[in-house]
Amino acid sequence: MRRRHREGSLAVFPGSFDPITNGHLDIVARGLALFDRVRIAILVNPEKKPLFSVQERVEIIRGTYPGNRRVEVDTFSGLLVDYAEKVGASVIIRGIRAISDFEFEFQMALMNRRLNPRIETVFMMPAESYSYVSSRLVKEVFQLGGRVSDLVPELVERRLFEKYGAPVRPVRARMRRRAG
Ligand code: PNS
Repeated sequence: MRRRHREGSLAVFPGSFDPITNGHLDIVARGLALFDRVRIAILVNPEKKPLFSVQERVEIIRGTYPGNRRVEVDTFSGLLVDYAEKVGASVIIRGIRAISDFEFEFQMALMNRRLNPRIETVFMMPAESYSYVSSRLVKEVFQLGGRVSDLVPELVERRLFEKYGAPVRPVRARMRRRAG
């Protein structure tokens, strides 16, 4: 009976995903434990200058979930609640990594509820090991020569290499290599 209630349930997981991280993947996995389908919805925001174009982000995320029919990938613009309503989702999933995320997320959730009370926001916590992982830090660390392989799917790391070329190695490491 409970199962029948959940059948066909769809949750939207919105964000910038520039790029998607293992923290996001962790939230998707948790979402799939509660809902039949999770739709990753990438915001098209002309005001932001992303590293990966919207099309590239769609490709990356599709490539991260090959053949998984429970994970859908889409783009949206305009109000998130309007998008959720249009695709028949009654739930928005957002990940909360730390208390610092909470204030803004709480504000957004309440605004979204005011805009459309039929859509519920569900906050999910990723594994602690991802609590410090963000798309912004991944890009910065990669660019400066840090290892990100445990923080993003392999496909993202490959795309980062294509985008930035070989990461900048710290000066001392370069000097050590030359001396050796
Ligand atoms: O990954 P991000 O950048 O934290 O995601 C933010 C996102 C896309 C969830 C948020 O900016 C959003 O929902 N934008 C759509 C416009 C909208 O509905 N604004 C009102 C929200 S209160």
